[in-house]
Amino acid sequence: MNLSEMYEKGKNAMLEKDYGVFLKGVETEFVLRNNRQIFDRYTFRQRAIDADPEPDTTLDVLGVTLGTPVIMSAMTTPITAITEEGLFKVARGLKEAGSMMWTGSPIPNNLKALKETGVPLAANVKPLKDREKMLEALREIQEAGVDWVGVEVDSGMGTKILDKQMVFNCAPLTTAELKEIRKVVQKPLILKGILSREDAAKALEVGADGIIVSNHGAHTLDYLPHPLQVLDEIVEEVGGKIVIMADGGFRRGSDVLKGLAYGVTLIGLGRPILYGLAANGQEGVRDVILSITGEMKRTMGMLGIRDVRNVTRDILIGETK
Ligand SMILES: Cc1cc2nc3c(=O)[nH]c(=O)nc-3n(C[C@H](O)[C@H](O)[C@H](O)COP(=O)(O)O)c2cc1C
Repeated sequence: MNLSEMYEKGKNAMLEKDYGVFLKGVETEFVLRNNRQIFDRYTFRQRAIDADPEPDTTLDVLGVTLGTPVIMSAMTTPITAITEEGLFKVARGLKEAGSMMWTGSPIPNNLKALKETGVPLAANVKPLKDREKMLEALREIQEAGVDWVGVEVDSGMGTKILDKQMVFNCAPLTTAELKEIRKVVQKPLILKGILSREDAAKALEVGADGIIVSNHGAHTLDYLPHPLQVLDEIVEEVGGKIVIMADGGFRRGSDVLKGLAYGVTLIGLGRPILYGLAANGQEGVRDVILSITGEMKRTMGMLGIRDVRNVTRDILIGETK
């Protein structure tokens, strides 16, 4: 099965079931449409002569060694619905592909066992109104041995799909609270859902190790921009000081390269992981990452990029904002 076939098969399998609704977006679904359309605004500068047929996609990020800059975005809910043992299939598939797992809400109660598969593992915590419960969750995931701790700063008003509010029990975090969270998190701390210069500056101020530039895959607010529309101001503010990751609509190796060209180190995939799992289990998840990485390598060579850690903006021809 090639990548398009896998996406098609996995998506259709999910849409036939009640959990298919999780693939939809908030309110008008503008964010979903924009997340895809944005990539078509850019073309590549080909430098075919002296191309390197075997460019390097390996990298070390915050203590984790990866074979690819393509990782999983935070998710839990639909994975266990798709298949029993879904989380383990995802963990093993990602490990085989040299990638990284990231769990979302609810926090799996078997994080320790997931970590024992050998996959690099991060776990997210929502800004629960019950702050004691949130602090307890932060303690639990660290005890389970995760590599990184993620905090969803963008879930302050909960999540919403189409017209239905899905998560209610959240409240926006303050800078002071994030500073307190920093004190109890010994692992690298990543703030997810940064979309402006102002929030990026606050992430730096509270001592986060990284940020995920993300519109939450269209599950929080309508009319949020795509990361490519805000990365310039964010990189200007915090680039080189903390690790910048991004997700939202990335589906092919070409999309990933466009993100990297904007100064991003790691790109997350949400729905593609679900499609791989729904289409072909553990192998499907592995093949999604391997296919995208293969597409990247093929393109990198012909653009004159030898190393994934050194992708520069001049590979893009097209809109610059
Ligand atoms: C079904 C589903 C569940 C998700 N659950 C969470 C979650 O629990 N926590 C979180 O931070 N993000 C969650 N997300 C958002 C993803 O982490 C990610 O930001 C988004 O899906 C990326 O866009 P993509 O699906 O177009 O790749 C979820 C996304 C989907 C599609």
